[in-house]
Amino acid sequence: MALSKEHRLALLLNHIVVFYVTLALVFSGGVCARILTMQRPSSGSSVSAVFAFGDSTVDTGNNDYINTPSKGNVPPYGKDFVNHIPTGRFSNGKLIPDLIAAHYGVKELLPPYLDPALSTEDLTTGVCFASAGSGYDPLTGQTINVLSMEKQLQYFKEYTKRLEMAIGKNRTRNIINGALFVISSGTNDFIINYYGLPFRRQSFTPHMYRQFILAHVKKFTQTLLNQGARRIAVVGLAPMGCLPLVININSGNPFRDRGCIKKFSSVARNYNTMLQRELGKMEKSFRSLGVVIGYIDIYNSVVRMIKAPHSFGFEDVDSGCCGTGIIKVSFSCDMNSYVCPNASKHLFWDSVHPTERAYSVVFHAQLPSFDAILKGI
Ligand SMILES: *[C@@H]1O[C@H](CO)[C@@H](O)[C@H](O)[C@H]1NC(C)=O
Ligand SMILES: *[C@@H]1O[C@H](CO)[C@@H](O)[C@H](O)[C@H]1NC(C)=O
Repeated sequence: MALSKEHRLALLLNHIVVFYVTLALVFSGGVCARILTMQRPSSGSSVSAVFAFGDSTVDTGNNDYINTPSKGNVPPYGKDFVNHIPTGRFSNGKLIPDLIAAHYGVKELLPPYLDPALSTEDLTTGVCFASAGSGYDPLTGQTINVLSMEKQLQYFKEYTKRLEMAIGKNRTRNIINGALFVISSGTNDFIINYYGLPFRRQSFTPHMYRQFILAHVKKFTQTLLNQGARRIAVVGLAPMGCLPLVININSGNPFRDRGCIKKFSSVARNYNTMLQRELGKMEKSFRSLGVVIGYIDIYNSVVRMIKAPHSFGFEDVDSGCCGTGIIKVSFSCDMNSYVCPNASKHLFWDSVHPTERAYSVVFHAQLPSFDAILKGI
């Protein structure tokens, strides 16, 4: 792991804090402790913990522990993961929350909150609350029994109480204030709920539905801020018309014509524009509290990969490595699916989810945005 200058500085600052905390313990005076709390670099680029909320793009395995058909814990999922273990991550390897935690020196993998074996150390450095199949709309994912965003927030509150019991209120608050929160959701709201099912379309125009989803994003983010979050990254939508599943369903000839479906990508673009505006407004009103809310643009990162596959080492950007190989119109990736020999040559792992390599390209392209959120720019 190459360390940037800021990263080294952050590590150094961390050491200094640890040193002073040790001093504080030695002298164990209340006055001393209070001064030390103020010396903690709360707005530096150091990250105390990482928390993830949302759908399969960031679910590191919560669905393993709930009764839902939406699971990624069977082979070939995890084909290229540590020890080739299927963990519930919907990809061949790691997801962006893992890459974030490792890059900022927090830990190698972000564990799912529902894992009953979590230690206090696991809790203090952050966990994942996301659930594959969920969306901002409470109706999305309801029939498959996944964790709604509301439920994810309830778990976060439960987590906070657990941590307070283990390490005390002040340390818990410091950890939450210094953490990076990542929210990635929305694709299931549009692709599965709005355009796939009849209910929401009966009462919402596309524009109204975007506003409805944005109202939920806002409410969700505000609740996190009330709970002590200060640095929040909200991920926008990918070009949804380029998902192999969407191409399979909407292309006139899914075997021959595998171009992106313009309509769905334009829904994502419109939503992303509105999202950025909303996040900007929210940040302004909370700025005095030291709040930074950043937009993570995955749309353009994915478009760049699709437009110039070879410059990223990809040979296929329109069908999944698993499940959409030989029989392109099959949707699922499971033990009986054809799996391509080298997933890194594919942008998509299955008919919806990117490969670890594609996630890694997106993460590195978005690193300046994450850095900016952490530095409070
Ligand atoms: C915890 O923080 C509160 C408010 O910042 C302060 O009043 C209290 O003394 C702190 N407790 C400890 C043990 O540091
Ligand atoms: C798999 O594909 C990637 C990307 O094109 C390439 O860098 C890598 O060398 C390949 N691995 C093997 C074992 O062929």
